[in-house]
Amino acid sequence: MPPEAPAHIAVLTVSDRAARGEYADRGGPAAEAWLRRTLIPPVTITREIIPDGAKSVSDALRRLADKTGADLILVTGGTGPAPRDRTPEGVAAVIDFDLPGFGEAMRAASLAEVPTAILSRQGAGVRGRTLIVTLPGNPGAIATCLNAVFAAIPYCLDLIGAARVETDPAVCAAFRPPRTQA
Ligand code: MTE
Repeated sequence: MPPEAPAHIAVLTVSDRAARGEYADRGGPAAEAWLRRTLIPPVTITREIIPDGAKSVSDALRRLADKTGADLILVTGGTGPAPRDRTPEGVAAVIDFDLPGFGEAMRAASLAEVPTAILSRQGAGVRGRTLIVTLPGNPGAIATCLNAVFAAIPYCLDLIGAARVETDPAVCAAFRPPRTQA
């Protein structure tokens, strides 16, 4: 069998001001740094910045999932209640189904740090063979949220037919249930 292509993880920053170049994107680099600390190479990580809005988000997700073939898309920003925060609506428009446990776990971990975590509408869903996870824009919050959910992501990717990813167990011990005999 030919060797499997390395997993492709796309980090998508959603921010009007970062997309216009009015300030530096800090969320995307924080997510990428977390991934590089945690994942065992080879893995391809790409980053891009798009403006806020449901259409902007859903267009980018369709492209990354269907044309680029990303295995995992981490979306950062636009999950709050402000008028331009429409990342969850953009995700909802393109996923086949959602995985509510991701939002529950991320909010539980974040609420232990800050009461305003209750304002976040983070979550996760699957489109074809791509897992999409939404994170807040704040770099510190990104680490909290990834620490809360990432142990389940490699097995989720296995289940949906995406590429295999391996984590450094000293950083994040991925959990794959043992296979039971029929
Ligand atoms: N989660 C953690 N761990 N730390 C935070 O500072 N900020 C909250 C929340 N989750 C926060 C957090 C706030 S104030 C908002 S509005 C929401 O995430 C959404 O953030 P976003 O609009 O950048 O996606």
